[in-house]
Amino acid sequence: RPRNASPLRASDRRRNTHKPPHLTNLPLHLLINCTFLSNHRLQPPPKPQLPAINRQIDMRRALVAHALLHLGQDRPVLLKRVLHIFGHHRAQGGIIGADIAQLKPIVARLTLGDGRHEIQAVHDKHIIVQRPINTTGSGGREHALAAALNRDTTLEELHVAPGNPGIAEIALCHAIDTTDNNVVVELAKKLNIDLVVVGPEKPLVNGLADALNKANIACFGPSKAAAQIEGSKDFAKQVMRDAGVPTAKSFTCNNQKEIEKALDTFGAPYVVKHDGLAAGKGVVVTEDRDLAIEHALQSPQVVIEEFLDGPEVSLFGISDGTTVIAMQPAQDFKRAFDGDLGPNTGGMGAYSPLPWAPDEIMEETLDKVLNPTIQEMAARGTPFVGLLYAGLALTSRGTKVIEFNARFGDPETQVVLARLNSSLSELLLAAATGKLSSLPEL
Ligand code: AMP
Ligand code: GLY
Repeated sequence: RPRNASPLRASDRRRNTHKPPHLTNLPLHLLINCTFLSNHRLQPPPKPQLPAINRQIDMRRALVAHALLHLGQDRPVLLKRVLHIFGHHRAQGGIIGADIAQLKPIVARLTLGDGRHEIQAVHDKHIIVQRPINTTGSGGREHALAAALNRDTTLEELHVAPGNPGIAEIALCHAIDTTDNNVVVELAKKLNIDLVVVGPEKPLVNGLADALNKANIACFGPSKAAAQIEGSKDFAKQVMRDAGVPTAKSFTCNNQKEIEKALDTFGAPYVVKHDGLAAGKGVVVTEDRDLAIEHALQSPQVVIEEFLDGPEVSLFGISDGTTVIAMQPAQDFKRAFDGDLGPNTGGMGAYSPLPWAPDEIMEETLDKVLNPTIQEMAARGTPFVGLLYAGLALTSRGTKVIEFNARFGDPETQVVLARLNSSLSELLLAAATGKLSSLPEL
């Protein structure tokens, strides 16, 4: 078992009344977010990448098993079909939307990448920037964004920076260095871009939205200051405290004495979070106190918090800084391996809708989480423009926020956008230009 795997089984932890039932025959959207290679569409990757890809194949199997358990499908038959198809399609990226009963169309929509470059996307009027795809096997989120933007018939062009072969089928790709804000701004100016949509958190935390806004280019994504809601767990806790948003009790610790005191205050299971960006790898949930201390000491500042029971739900709020619109909820699976026994990942897979979730979940999250947080950010002089991702735990003591992210969730985006009927580009442009209140309902 990996060192940071919790000895807890999911079934031990999920003790409340909202336990998801088996979801047989529901029209679900399944996403598999892993790394594959494609023999026929991609050059073979350089040799040093192969071990990483092999690890991803294990994750892929775990995810398929996980999805099947939750979806109540005929596991052996479906697993055989999935592995058969994937045995012949190795590609980098994710698989977006589709009915689980139709695996072949899902596979046809594989997002591809070459494993060496960052993915980027732009549009005559939209840019999507994505992190290097060889880090976490992503690519599905930006492909899903590009695909949803591309559905809009009023859109003239879609550009992506740097793009991948899957995205290149629906957008114009530009191989630029997306870690350099000036380079992205220059490209947007050259192409006369109306709106830039930033996919991952890193460019936001590095101030890409500020650089674009300074050049009078609309950006869907928060400023550097507002992106701290994802960039620092401690900052997010302060905002939640000031906004009265329900979340786990926590301590922010900077040395071993504080760490041990906090761990002993809450007791096991211990929840330890590195304060800064960690691509989904900074959190450990464990019964093992020594392991909790070891993980905590790897970061100069950590947040240690009480354990929250109950299933998790991801709910996106689209905000223009004052108004916020909630999107449909999704559920993702963060831990690798069957039975949730593996380490936390950035997200193994997701599905939506959630027929087991309480009916009022969107309204409740708007009232108790999204609106108060957006108002608090505005009151601090750092309005949040972009996507506020609320990671929720439906606990036996009510809904609580586990985390905030400052961008579209990956892989939830792939399943949520597949269900969006209205125009994504209109929605994101309205958010980026302060006009959300004038939009009709989604
Ligand atoms: P985060 O990056 O804060 O979302 O944490 C990653 C994952 O760790 C979450 O999706 C949960 O599965 C788990 N986790 C985080 N905080 C808690 C908590 N307070 N109680 C139980 N599980 C947690
Ligand atoms: N799926 C988790 C995340 O996007 O952070």
